Amino acid sequence: MIEIKNLNKHFGQFHALKGISLRVKENEIYGFIGHNGAGKSTTMNIMAGLSHFEEGSCIINGQDVKELAKPGDLNVGFLPENPQFYPWMNATEYLLYCSKNPDKQKVKEIIAWAGLEQHASRKIKGFSRGMKQRLGLAVALINDPKLIILDEPSSALDPEGRSEVLRLMVELKNMGKTIIFSSHILSDIERICDRIGMIENGEIIFEKSLVSLLNENVKPIFDIEFKHMISTLQIERLMEHKDILKVEAKDNMLTVQLKQNDLDPKSLLESVLEFDVPILGFNLRKNNLESLFIKEGN
Ligand SMILES: Nc1ncnc2c1ncn2[C@@H]1O[C@H](COP(=O)(O)OP(=O)(O)OP(=O)(O)O)[C@@H](O)[C@H]1O
Ligand SMILES: [Mg+2]
Repeated sequence: MIEIKNLNKHFGQFHALKGISLRVKENEIYGFIGHNGAGKSTTMNIMAGLSHFEEGSCIINGQDVKELAKPGDLNVGFLPENPQFYPWMNATEYLLYCSKNPDKQKVKEIIAWAGLEQHASRKIKGFSRGMKQRLGLAVALINDPKLIILDEPSSALDPEGRSEVLRLMVELKNMGKTIIFSSHILSDIERICDRIGMIENGEIIFEKSLVSLLNENVKPIFDIEFKHMISTLQIERLMEHKDILKVEAKDNMLTVQLKQNDLDPKSLLESVLEFDVPILGFNLRKNNLESLFIKEGN
């Protein structure tokens, strides 16, 4: 669907994209992450056929963006970082204007989906930032594209709006579409993405499936909750266990770190059962994307 190879782009002397390669497969939701200024928007503008680059290649739906007569030929839905509209039009007029085959019923449906029903006939110049983002999303979908590129689709939305957008992205995937979106909201990425690419200073740091990214970084830490407090003596005995690196106690909880990722927790469980104190919880702590992102970025 998207195949980018060795892309290089400068803004004057500034080397913004330093040979990036990435691949978005058909019918996946791809999350594009990176700190401010990493190069996400620059890359996405190129994917949408709107920005020039010096070296490398960018193939979208089998089409080389360098060989396009005009960006509209790509048949992608694109939400730019700061969508611009004709402020004197209202939302309905603008969506009709953007439609390849103008259809009033379809525009009405998409306006309702975007949560803009109340504002359909208001001039866009009076729209709030979140309303403009909703309208931008509607514009990205109005021509029923197979590939959808969204640059921070939920950054200006309230929590309810954010959840709606995430739900919609999953619905679009179920309809057979392919989606790439950038976001700083890692919990959103974690909720819906199949694969993730991270860019830093114009270079791709990794590109992996969400599952393998999280699995590779599972920390061998168990949080064990007991019905009563565990005595110091019992904790000391537990620390003698050959697989255990560290034990921390707080109230009725023990946090136990194992020496290696792939150790079988069975013998740990057997050791804590010997305390003869009822166990209320025994959980392997999972890393979330937030902690990985902070680690990778530093
Ligand atoms: N038109 C431009 N002229 C000069 N430099 C630019 C221009 N557009 C982007 N840059 C620079 O290129 C780098 C990448 O910018 P880009 O907008 O792609 O980052 P981003 O990852 O989208 O960041 P953000 O999370 O803040 O949106 C930044 O250092 C930015 O200053
Ligand atoms: Mg950006």
